[in-house]
Amino acid sequence: MKTNIVLIGFMGSGKSITGKLLAYKLGYSFVDTDSEIEKTYKQKIKDMFASEGEAVFRARETETIRKIAARKNQVISTGGGVATKEEDMKILRDNAIIVSLAAMPHTILKRTGNDKRPLLAKKTKEERLKTIIELMGKRAKYYKNADLIVKTDDTTPLQNVEIILKYL
Ligand code: S3P
Repeated sequence: MKTNIVLIGFMGSGKSITGKLLAYKLGYSFVDTDSEIEKTYKQKIKDMFASEGEAVFRARETETIRKIAARKNQVISTGGGVATKEEDMKILRDNAIIVSLAAMPHTILKRTGNDKRPLLAKKTKEERLKTIIELMGKRAKYYKNADLIVKTDDTTPLQNVEIILKYL
């Protein structure tokens, strides 16, 4: 039996809040790949991007995912880029149901207003929307590759959880 649930999706699609709630309801542990990376390397993601660069972050992300994938009974919230890494997804998929959270670019724009996310930081609102649309277009096929897709534009995190629980 598959014992983990992996949430994939774009930044601001609701993975962390939905994942925490889902883990609570299932009595599973909640793991967030970005938080694990920050804990292991004692550095915020945005500082890692700034000082080490994106390639180093991506390598650390892969290493972290391999460690997490070996554990059981977890809801794993992944950083928005994880779904595009086919090797990492294959490893996760072996022991997990994949749930994709999806939202429209304007919804994402509203939810990603602060400068915490390096890929969207230091931009005007217009530039941010453009980046979101471009990146989402490039990643769309990866986000579709899931067992269940939940649209989160007009739902609450609790409603997302109910949809997921019904599917399980
Ligand atoms: C990224 C998403 C972020 C974080 C990093 C890169 C991406 O995670 O991993 O800033 O490539 O989409 P969230 O999806 O949790 O914001």
